[in-house]
Amino acid sequence: MPKLHVTGGTRLSGSVKISGAKNAAVAVIPAALLTEAAVRIENLPNIYDIHVLVKILHSLGVKALWETPSTLLIDPSALSGWQPPYELVKKLRASYYFLGALLGRYGRAVVPVPGGCDLGPRPIDQHIKGLAALGADVAVEHGLINVSAAKLEGANIYLDVVSVGATINIMLAAARAHGRTVIENAAKEPEIVDVANFLNAMGAKIRGAGTDVIRITGVKELGPACHAVIPDRIEAGTYMIAGAATGGNVLLQDVIPKHLDPLTAKLREMNIEVEVADDSIRVIGNTCPLAADIKTFPYPGFPTDMQSLAMVLLTQAEGNSIITENVFEGRFKHVDELKRMGAQIKVEGRTAFVTGKTRLSGAPVKATDLRAGAAFIVAGLIAEGETVISEINHIYRGYENICAKMTALGAQIKETD
Ligand code: EPZ
Repeated sequence: MPKLHVTGGTRLSGSVKISGAKNAAVAVIPAALLTEAAVRIENLPNIYDIHVLVKILHSLGVKALWETPSTLLIDPSALSGWQPPYELVKKLRASYYFLGALLGRYGRAVVPVPGGCDLGPRPIDQHIKGLAALGADVAVEHGLINVSAAKLEGANIYLDVVSVGATINIMLAAARAHGRTVIENAAKEPEIVDVANFLNAMGAKIRGAGTDVIRITGVKELGPACHAVIPDRIEAGTYMIAGAATGGNVLLQDVIPKHLDPLTAKLREMNIEVEVADDSIRVIGNTCPLAADIKTFPYPGFPTDMQSLAMVLLTQAEGNSIITENVFEGRFKHVDELKRMGAQIKVEGRTAFVTGKTRLSGAPVKATDLRAGAAFIVAGLIAEGETVISEINHIYRGYENICAKMTALGAQIKETD
């Protein structure tokens, strides 16, 4: 298995172009199955999860061709199955979007219970509740989620928890249901808006995405479309924190600054300079950032996906900080690895107490999940000596060319077998 070797001590400097958003792209690709017409999707990130999804499309008889490294032409007219194979589905969480998409298109889907990052329990009861409310019979047995409906009927659905995945899955199935669906307590993430925009470009009638009430009037069929995926706010946030933690000066290009407001505000609170322009952000690090408390929440709260990265930065702050993880109860698995690098962090339930001004030293660490893997890269950049990160396949699931992008900013990072 390849490993990443990171040598600490360089201040990152220069500019980095942000790729398309993984968590929008992984929903937009299954969403393409809702039409019989060809669709073109631009600004896709060149990452492992996207390549797995394209393999799933091929396994279902769908034509999917790369026109450029970031543009995919999908022709779903020859779709010939409703059961994506377990061997592919187990590799990523987002394969649950085939439930909503295939149900909307065919009235039938059989999807193995999906894999993805281990962040503690990740139930899908809200997906199931939503699809059942639309009239689907849902059975989960032998590791398979089996959904079928003779006819999907619009419904009022109130989500018990704010869920990105459930909101999108219900939107997908409801786009071609008969009548009107209202999702209340919907998630408001920018990725949801992006998927709604793509569906609307195909002819769907979805209003309110980005607020907590989404109204969908089902249509009989969807047509062709061309859609460019939004920039990845979590990838952008990763380079913002890397710039800040190394005391560097990093310009992020091709971002939607509004999507980064929760992080920008927190960095400014820590006395880190953030300059915001129309589609770029510059972060100028500070060798002595201030401590800050962080509570993760669904958008527009501070993103759980940035929690492990922010934790690394807080180990360097003047004073002690408290992080409360409100979204995923098991999302502190990176803490033990960071402690092996010298971090002083105490976890009690959903709260982590981070001691500031701690000298980190390079050590072998294991990427416990995608974002934790990126956090170890940042930790390696500020640690004394070399950090060797294993299980980096997690990192490649979601970060396009992370070694090349970091190297261009001056990082000492290389992959070895
Ligand atoms: C999405 O996961 C993202 N994944 C995650 O990003 C992200 O961390 C998460 O949203 C929160 O922002 C993708 O978009 C593919 P949720 P998702 O449903 O949809 C509970 C990354 O690193 N819940 O919003 O699976 C759940 O347990 C990944 O890029 C239920 O109880 O998250 C959690 O506590 C990791 N029942 C909370 O809701 C359900 O049916 C939010 O989960 C669904 C969720």
